[in-house]
Amino acid sequence: MDRPVIGVVGLGTMGLGIAQVYAQAGHAVLATDAHAPARANARERLAAALAPRVNAGKLDAAEAEAIASRLQVVDGPEGLADAALVIEAVAEDLAVKQDLFAAVERAVAADCVLATNTSSLSVRAIRDPLARPMQVIGLHFFNPAPVMKLVELVVPQGAEEAGNRARTLTEAAGKVVVDAPDSPGFIVNRCARPFYGEALALLEEGRAAAEIDAAMAAAGYRMGPFALIDLIGADINLAATRSLNAAMGGHPRYHVFAALEETVAAGRLGRKSGAGFVTPPGEAPAPPADAESIAARIEALLVNEAAWLAQESSTSRDAIDTALKLGLNFPRGPFGMLDRLGGPGAVLHILSDLRVRAPEALKPRYDPSPWLEALA
Ligand SMILES: NC(=O)c1ccc[n+]([C@@H]2O[C@H](COP(=O)([O-])OP(=O)(O)OC[C@H]3O[C@@H](n4cnc5c(N)ncnc54)[C@H](O)[C@@H]3O)[C@@H](O)[C@H]2O)c1
Repeated sequence: MDRPVIGVVGLGTMGLGIAQVYAQAGHAVLATDAHAPARANARERLAAALAPRVNAGKLDAAEAEAIASRLQVVDGPEGLADAALVIEAVAEDLAVKQDLFAAVERAVAADCVLATNTSSLSVRAIRDPLARPMQVIGLHFFNPAPVMKLVELVVPQGAEEAGNRARTLTEAAGKVVVDAPDSPGFIVNRCARPFYGEALALLEEGRAAAEIDAAMAAAGYRMGPFALIDLIGADINLAATRSLNAAMGGHPRYHVFAALEETVAAGRLGRKSGAGFVTPPGEAPAPPADAESIAARIEALLVNEAAWLAQESSTSRDAIDTALKLGLNFPRGPFGMLDRLGGPGAVLHILSDLRVRAPEALKPRYDPSPWLEALA
């Protein structure tokens, strides 16, 4: 039987990568973009994205051509009629996504699944005004979509059937799909915050970015928090932190550290601007004498954030561990860190010590999740 047709709207960074994922898995992909040049050169960009693997002998030239030929660009949503699953990766704007899905649902069959790749909007809010809200789910891919294994699946109540169909198709396309709650930052963008935030707290206390990164490298992290901020872009990291901070009512667990704001204001955005926290890289320093306690401090905050999320939603500990390992290349997930840190009691001890030393406004940052307290 032919594989179901996939629709993609938005042929920017994410949409083109998502189109590649399903085209590689043998699906015909119908794709569109509001911007005519993005439609016109999409095939070319897909072929260019495949070229390095062809040149490295990892992908047959004929197969690369077959993948590119599965992408068919159409003029607008009305051209997506044959799609069984339509994924949108357009601008991160609630009204834009709602209007787009309204147009898509007029064009497609009643059982077509509509998936949003939003990073920060609520899937329920996007689906609210639609005629068939139960068809709408979240499929959150990571950048670059063809490389990153992880996809967060958000299934609001009533959309279980649509969610299951999206999961089956996406797993068959080679992804690891984890169930995420429809809450700000889903799993990865929320649970990652302390990795950067606590590193920034240490920086503001006078530690050097390179020595904090060295401490994390010694604890098994492929990239330290500052190398990662430089890679992603300090501006992108700041926007994600601010967005979560606002969505969480300004809770100090999502504090926006001045050191990050100042770095962005100074234009030190990381690799893309040629200067950042640890860019250009100097000679990597040896881990400092207290490397273990630096890593333990950051990991204790990661454990606590994951525990809050698990407690507030029905997100499983396995899903959180898998998401952070695959989404951030962490050597272990937060619940895997618990044992290494000496169990819940040891984490509580680190948190309470930090709470005592923290400035008044930041003390609630270190409040332990009741789940952790119950375990200790
Ligand atoms: N870039 C990332 O790292 C990343 C990761 C995960 C999720 N996301 C999310 O994916 C979505 C797209 O992000 P991106 O980085 O690919 O953006 P992008 O700017 O690279 O691409 C967006 C594309 O959508 C098109 N577009 C905008 N409005 C449209 C409309 N109404 N109809 C059709 N096309 C329209 C634009 O012309 C553009 O080509 C956003 O919701 C973003 O939050 C981004």
